[in-house]
Amino acid sequence: MAIRVGVIGATGVVGQQFLVALAGHPWFTVVRFAASARSAGKRYEEAIHDPHTGASRWLCDEPLPAEFADIVVEDASEFDPRGLGLVFTGVEEGEVARQLEPRLAQHVPVVSTASAFRMESDVPLLIPFLNAAHLPLLDVQCRQRGWKGYIVPIPNCTTTGLAITLAPIIRTFGLRSALMVSLQALSGAGRSPGVSAIDILDNVIPYIPREEEKVCRETGKILGILHGEAVSPATIPLGAICTRVNVRDGHTEAVFVSTERAASVVAARAAFAEFAGDTAGLDLPSAPEHTIVVRDDPYRPQPRLDRDTEQGMATVVGRIETHEALPNGLKWILVSHNTRMGAARGAVLTAELLAKRGYAG
Ligand SMILES: NC(=O)c1ccc[n+]([C@@H]2O[C@H](COP(=O)([O-])OP(=O)(O)OC[C@H]3O[C@@H](n4cnc5c(N)ncnc54)[C@H](OP(=O)(O)O)[C@@H]3O)[C@@H](O)[C@H]2O)c1
Repeated sequence: MAIRVGVIGATGVVGQQFLVALAGHPWFTVVRFAASARSAGKRYEEAIHDPHTGASRWLCDEPLPAEFADIVVEDASEFDPRGLGLVFTGVEEGEVARQLEPRLAQHVPVVSTASAFRMESDVPLLIPFLNAAHLPLLDVQCRQRGWKGYIVPIPNCTTTGLAITLAPIIRTFGLRSALMVSLQALSGAGRSPGVSAIDILDNVIPYIPREEEKVCRETGKILGILHGEAVSPATIPLGAICTRVNVRDGHTEAVFVSTERAASVVAARAAFAEFAGDTAGLDLPSAPEHTIVVRDDPYRPQPRLDRDTEQGMATVVGRIETHEALPNGLKWILVSHNTRMGAARGAVLTAELLAKRGYAG
């Protein structure tokens, strides 16, 4: 399988992670990049330098893959995707994605990290481990919109870890309600507008606009069931408080749930550790060996120590305990890499699922 792909938003925090995830990929070959008019016409390596200070804006731990340094960045507003097998988009929230993605999807599959289309009824919101059963919505989308391609968004990076850990609990014990408090990394805010150092140093920001609504709505849709031509969202009451903390990468989330059937710590641990999800046996190149990794050390998970587990694709869970604040109360803490599983690599995994199921390539 050799699918030629483009990356739009290639210069941003997520775009850079796309490049690292796609370098040497066995199925996808990156041949074109695009970003805003600010970057257009520049070699990629030049485009990721600050035009005023000359400082590099490369943020990944890995060096820029050499094969991408000389590719000239195109202007996304003029990008013609014809000839490509698939396009990954990691562009700014709001109107940019809303205008750009349908124009691309008229011709090719679009796998997006932006929120613009996540809640549309003919759009599956995919986490490959959890809801591959929603894929037939793509046939509905192509038919209704008259597109050759389609848009598949991945969820908000805070939704991802929560939904992945709720799924085995739902399947094993049933779920009455869930509450979550996040401690979200700085890279989750991207470069633009980003979070200024002087605001976050020595501090916790107790509010992220629209984040809590997104997490609750998206989790309901992902854990919902496809009935005919739409997903019936899971009707579990969910509550969230989302905060920003002084951590570079890796979202930490403290989760409190009430289960239908009592869950012992041992049984909950087993449900997490044994959860293989819908990608088991598919041999997708970016799938982690373990969807969830359980740490028994009470000082884990920590973002610095655990975010890169299985290349940032495993959700790491610890502090699994019962509690009495809710009926059949259970709690845990998770760490999920926001720009890897929660963004670029998660999108690449989604594209691999699409290719495997015959929706791309
Ligand atoms: N950061 C995360 O952890 C994370 C996780 C999940 C989802 N997401 C979502 O992924 C998307 C990208 O986030 P990010 O963190 O990578 O943001 P970012 O660092 O601010 O990067 C934004 C990218 O969009 C491009 N862009 C800006 N305006 C544009 C325009 N008018 N036309 C075309 N391209 C334009 C930028 O190009 P220039 O460099 O040329 O300005 C840059 O490549 C967002 O929708 C975000 O919500 C982010």
